[in-house]
Amino acid sequence: RTTELDSICLKAEVIPVLAIERVEDAVPLGRALVEGGLTVLEVTLRTDCALEAIRRLKEALPQASIGVGTVLTPAQYRQSEQVGADFVVTPGTTEALYRYGVTSPVPMLPGVATVSELMTGWQYGYRRFKFFPAEASGGVKALKAFAGPIPEARFCPTGGINLDNAEDYLALKNVMCVGGSWLTPKSLVEAEDWNGIRQLAKEAAQRFHH
Ligand code: 3PG
Repeated sequence: RTTELDSICLKAEVIPVLAIERVEDAVPLGRALVEGGLTVLEVTLRTDCALEAIRRLKEALPQASIGVGTVLTPAQYRQSEQVGADFVVTPGTTEALYRYGVTSPVPMLPGVATVSELMTGWQYGYRRFKFFPAEASGGVKALKAFAGPIPEARFCPTGGINLDNAEDYLALKNVMCVGGSWLTPKSLVEAEDWNGIRQLAKEAAQRFHH
């Protein structure tokens, strides 16, 4: 699982977080991001059409890795498996999710914000985590501190990350990639400005390339 997650995260230092409101936007939006060079996407289950959007993205963009985000329960985890998720992302953790995740063929990136949550995940065998909400939970300083007691854990911080502060996170040894919604601004999506999105993705892909 750690290996699977590492190979997904290695493909992209930046993971766009998508909340798709109109199912018709899914494929052109995903395609613009992938063409811009960002091939790992997280689609959140925050909108009504999310599962159908993921189904369409999986079919149209087989070269992309699609994570399903905002997974709160094992039932949503199962739905994510059914629509072809490459990985599952949770904003926080519950014992039920931790337990379900170790039995699933689809790897989970559990969301943690504290050392205690990290320790619980560690006991279940998790080694890769989402750090959420990153900026509100202590940001770069917190991640540096986590490396003291648990240096082997690796993180994908999200929540408050943008073009200006991404670099500071990516410079940390325990950060494998960063995620965020800044690559899919509502104004561009509503205007169906896919060229604008492609440009944003390109900028991020070039700036944060390995
Ligand atoms: C997430 O679920 O990862 C966040 O909503 C992304 O946070 P951001 O909107 O601050 O980038």
